[in-house]
Amino acid sequence: MGIISIINSIATTVFAHLVNNDSCDTVNSGYQCNTSISHSWGQYSPYFTVPSKISNAEPPFCSITFVQSLNRHGARDPTASKTAKYSATVAQIHSNTTSYGPGFEFIESYQYTLGADQLTSFGQQEMINSGFKFFQRYQQLATNNTPFFRSSGENRVVMSAENFIQGYHAAKVIALGDDTSSYKPLVLSEEKGVNNTLDQSECTNFENDDYYASFAVDAQAAWLSVFAPNITARLNENLQGAGLTDNQTIYMMDLCPFNTIASHVGVISEWCTLFTPNEWKSYSYYNTLGKYYGYGDGNPLGPTQGVGFANELIARLTNKPVVDRTSTNSTIDALETTFPLGLPMYADFSHGSDMTAMFSALGLYNDTSPLSTHTIQDTDETNGYSASYTIPFAARAYIEKMTCLIQPYELVRVILNDRVVPLQNCGADSLGRCKLDAFVDSLSFARSSGHWDKCFE
Ligand SMILES: *[C@@H]1O[C@H](CO)[C@@H](O)[C@H](O)[C@H]1NC(C)=O
Ligand SMILES: *[C@@H]1O[C@H](CO)[C@@H](O)[C@H](O)[C@H]1NC(C)=O
Ligand SMILES: *[C@@H]1O[C@H](CO)[C@@H](O)[C@H](O)[C@H]1NC(C)=O
Ligand SMILES: *[C@@H]1O[C@H](CO)[C@@H](O)[C@H](O)[C@H]1NC(C)=O
Ligand SMILES: *[C@@H]1O[C@H](CO)[C@@H](O)[C@H](O)[C@H]1NC(C)=O
Ligand SMILES: *[C@@H]1O[C@H](CO)[C@@H](O)[C@H](O)[C@H]1NC(C)=O
Ligand SMILES: *[C@@H]1O[C@H](CO)[C@@H](O)[C@H](O)[C@H]1NC(C)=O
Ligand SMILES: *[C@@H]1O[C@H](CO)[C@@H](O)[C@H](O)[C@H]1NC(C)=O
Repeated sequence: MGIISIINSIATTVFAHLVNNDSCDTVNSGYQCNTSISHSWGQYSPYFTVPSKISNAEPPFCSITFVQSLNRHGARDPTASKTAKYSATVAQIHSNTTSYGPGFEFIESYQYTLGADQLTSFGQQEMINSGFKFFQRYQQLATNNTPFFRSSGENRVVMSAENFIQGYHAAKVIALGDDTSSYKPLVLSEEKGVNNTLDQSECTNFENDDYYASFAVDAQAAWLSVFAPNITARLNENLQGAGLTDNQTIYMMDLCPFNTIASHVGVISEWCTLFTPNEWKSYSYYNTLGKYYGYGDGNPLGPTQGVGFANELIARLTNKPVVDRTSTNSTIDALETTFPLGLPMYADFSHGSDMTAMFSALGLYNDTSPLSTHTIQDTDETNGYSASYTIPFAARAYIEKMTCLIQPYELVRVILNDRVVPLQNCGADSLGRCKLDAFVDSLSFARSSGHWDKCFE
């Protein structure tokens, strides 16, 4: 057995998802199992390739010259505060339910064993697959260049970056037979008081003032009161005595994605069977509202928190030093070793809420009318905005620059989870692209610090 075939057979073992195209979970298309359920989990959906109206292939007579990829960590356990609530809800059911209705019997013997905050093994595989796909998509650039990797400091994010690198390296070995590059992400601390564009926490009023939190809380409460009462009634009918509230209906629904991704290969959980596809759509929208009004255009300080990243992106796209007075660290951004300019490939690793703020700082949804809190807005009406389309687990944005035979200027486009998101404020062409200069001009919000002053006054 030659070295290449040995490597290939190792890769075959590691990348079960890749080589098995019959599986409903593959490197190229992500999680396509039980899609009428699993694509409606908002930010708890595992990455899946999002339908795109515009082809995301390299356009004819163009060549991609630059890519910034921005990645959410892979699937994780519930956050610590949520895991406590889920566990209490299950305990409440167990202690007070007198009879379990048809389809609900499994709950009687269900043991709550989910952990907190950590990447799951399913999530690790997602990131390996993501790095693999990234190399394959950008092989032209990747053959002679090493990406610059940065990761926010929380354990699951750093581990996600490392898994991504593992997949990237494996794909490179398979394609080129060798890979002697060494990769190590620059880790940006999430400690308080540290400026970190991949994990915002320095906008004081946003962190401490309930006024800013109220936008998401109110939007979700309004939508919950529309769609949840009937579901809660059904749950209580089938779990006599449990006394569940509408909020706990959300926890019951959360148990479906979290038990699914706790399974090594993402076997759909029994909790998912308790709800209909339409109910999952309502749930997805509930999660969408939380992100949109929490960190996106629906929050007065949402986009502002993505400004630091947007200004770093401008620096990378234009090959000029960072100009920013918000969340960047000027020490880090001034050094060639920690913020190199002029490279064709960058990969950053962050969190879903932070990425939501970054996308809004880039104006991707600036022309989208505010999301309704009493009826589901279709993703066509929202330029493709929804939590499951933008920040599923292992989400990846690709911000590309290209040069083309006909146009005498550089073009920019944005691809979120394989969907081309047509740029809104810079005169995009039919392929959703803007001239680099027009794109940078359109980022005046970021270039003028957004509403950063409101973080402190
Ligand atoms: C799996 O599908 C991808 C994309 O369609 C294709 O490039 C690849 O060759 C397929 N792999 C196998 C083992 O069939
Ligand atoms: C998920 O999909 C599989 C295969 O199509 C099917 O057997 C199963 O019943 C589905 N599960 C749910 C909860 O819909
Ligand atoms: C169970 O029911 C009892 C009596 O109705 C009530 O006092 C108790 O709070 C309930 N337990 C939980 C965990 O809700
Ligand atoms: C900026 O980065 C430097 C180098 O990593 C670090 O020593 C310093 O504490 C950081 N300062 C802030 C405010 O983030
Ligand atoms: C809730 O149930 C009532 C009575 O069956 C029905 O009229 C109403 O349309 C339902 N609401 C929703 C949001 O499904
Ligand atoms: C439901 O959850 C929301 C958001 O966490 C909270 O503001 C509200 O007080 C909760 N309602 C009840 C009845 O517990
Ligand atoms: C960190 O951010 C604050 C607030 O924008 C800024 O005043 C400070 O200069 C920054 N520190 C560094 C090292 O860039
Ligand atoms: C959105 O567009 C408005 C109107 O053009 C502009 O004033 C605002 O700065 C933009 N916001 C962002 C985040 O791009």
